[in-house]
Amino acid sequence: MAAKVAVFDAYGTLFDVASAARRAASEPGREAFAACWETLSANWRERQLQYSWLRAITGAHTDFWTVTQEALDWALEASKLEDDDLRQRLLSLYWELAAFDEVPAMLAQLKQDGLSTAILSNGAPDMLAGAVYSAGIELYLDAAISVEDVGVFKPDAKVYQMVCDRFDCTPEEVFFVSSNGWDAAGASGFGFQTLWVNRAGLPRERLPWEPRWEHYDLRSVTELVKEM
Ligand code: LAC
Repeated sequence: MAAKVAVFDAYGTLFDVASAARRAASEPGREAFAACWETLSANWRERQLQYSWLRAITGAHTDFWTVTQEALDWALEASKLEDDDLRQRLLSLYWELAAFDEVPAMLAQLKQDGLSTAILSNGAPDMLAGAVYSAGIELYLDAAISVEDVGVFKPDAKVYQMVCDRFDCTPEEVFFVSSNGWDAAGASGFGFQTLWVNRAGLPRERLPWEPRWEHYDLRSVTELVKEM
């Protein structure tokens, strides 16, 4: 079945979540942080995801910006770096994360090939708008769909259903891309044709659903979408 829409996870897939801490670590006066920024960045991301899952299964939803701040506070305390200036800097950099190098050309090609394109993300609408604008990719996206419209985080099926509602298509017509193994698995379980972008070379998630494809980065997207 031909793809009708190519849909991308945002954080970690189009936008490099480590770029906030990497940039802050390179700034003058942040020597203590430069020594541990990788650990802090990994803890921040891990807690952000864990809190999103815990809030989803307990029904205690709040927006992703709150979750992102709570996760950062945990990570700063774990690294003994409770410094308000650093906290504010990291949070402001989260609104202008770097896009991975291949993103603009890949999205431009999909549009040239006549596909609809969208982001489907846990991110709150204003966070997504900030990241899309800062990466300069707004012209190549037909929609940035946020979980805030259904009030629960991925991988709840209500989130994936929003794509079918927005583009009036079946799950099988959706080409879905995520660098998060659990998101690629959840989307596959929903019925999307899924590419797992495994930049870190991680093992497959031990979950009941498998992505159809696995590649290192996004360069294969424009070809894979034609295989559907
Ligand atoms: C997102 C997170 C899961 O963008 O990366 O939805």
